[in-house]
Amino acid sequence: MPIYHTLGQVPRKRHIVFRQPGGALYTEELMGNMGFTGPASLVYHVHQPTRVKDVSLVKALVWEADPEPTFRNRHFRTAGLPATQSVTADRIPLLYNADVALSFVQPLEDDEHFYRNAQGDEIVYISDGAGVLESPLGQLPFGTGDYLVIPRGIAHRYRFTQRPARCLVIESAGYVRTPHRYRNDHGQLTENAPFSERDIRRPSDLQTFDQRGDYPIIVKKDNRLTRVIVDHHPCDVVGWDGYYYPWAFNINDFEPRVGRVHLPPPIHQTFESDGFVVCSFCPRPYDFDPQAVPVPYVHSNVMSDEVLYYASAEFMSRRGIEYGSVTLHPDGVPHGPHPGRTEASLGKTHTDELAVMVDTFRSLQVARPALGIEDRQYYRSWIDSPGS
Ligand SMILES: [Fe+2]
Repeated sequence: MPIYHTLGQVPRKRHIVFRQPGGALYTEELMGNMGFTGPASLVYHVHQPTRVKDVSLVKALVWEADPEPTFRNRHFRTAGLPATQSVTADRIPLLYNADVALSFVQPLEDDEHFYRNAQGDEIVYISDGAGVLESPLGQLPFGTGDYLVIPRGIAHRYRFTQRPARCLVIESAGYVRTPHRYRNDHGQLTENAPFSERDIRRPSDLQTFDQRGDYPIIVKKDNRLTRVIVDHHPCDVVGWDGYYYPWAFNINDFEPRVGRVHLPPPIHQTFESDGFVVCSFCPRPYDFDPQAVPVPYVHSNVMSDEVLYYASAEFMSRRGIEYGSVTLHPDGVPHGPHPGRTEASLGKTHTDELAVMVDTFRSLQVARPALGIEDRQYYRSWIDSPGS
């Protein structure tokens, strides 16, 4: 994330002597992606983060695809998923390809362990719940409607203060960033962007825990969870600076765009990565031409699979959708408003919809656990709906 941030104490220059009150050196760690050339932070630890005592396998994460050989428009109801214990270790797979994986979790308890994803960046959409994300880089309070963006490699732990917690997890093989077209040559978000740096919340309240003991960090790598035991509290940082840290952006801080006639989904884009984008559909006035048709036209999303997570029960063009619904509209069949919805939208002045869209450029697989919450007749709903 291209905003410089610093917390705590850092030495006058990088890579120079920096001593603790007792005389020992702090351990300087570079944390960043793309070798030594991508976004990075310099982090100063009381203890060496390399002090690993033990490693053991927790479990392999096997994502099995729906064996159904045909494709169709699909609808899944996450309200039918069970709550599980851990926000990091018990996620339920929904959809995936090599670029992005979507899962859902409703954690009942806080983790004792810290968690580090070593194979993907994470965007965690907090559909319900509130709390604090702890990391060695500080505390990041979060609440309903937040996207938590957690770059890979950063140990972190969720502390929920408000439940039920419902989280849509978008895991990305590529680096998650703000859309390139929103930024100027210097990385700053321009006046044309639908949000600004002021809307991006960064860690604060850096607390340093100089504590010895066995501290588990569960690391996700190669689709396995491995428990790594270090001999000190992972949040032993006295200071850091740089561009690499967890951050939060609330969907309600996205400034929606409206035109005289309908504007296409890219105006809702919030994040980009490699092989997919994320868009936010927010409450807004409708298009203002007297002849405007507010709902979208039917479209064939050639070269992309479209996923929508419905963060409220309102959605202007769909019947039969509920809070927590997920639709998959794959490349290969057109989709659009349900029968009657276009006519019904004429003259409407605004929409209260709230939804997160993930558009992938390669086909998505449906994970087996999603089959248990599928509305299997959805693909016929343009035929079977009243008014068709
Ligand atoms: Fe669409």
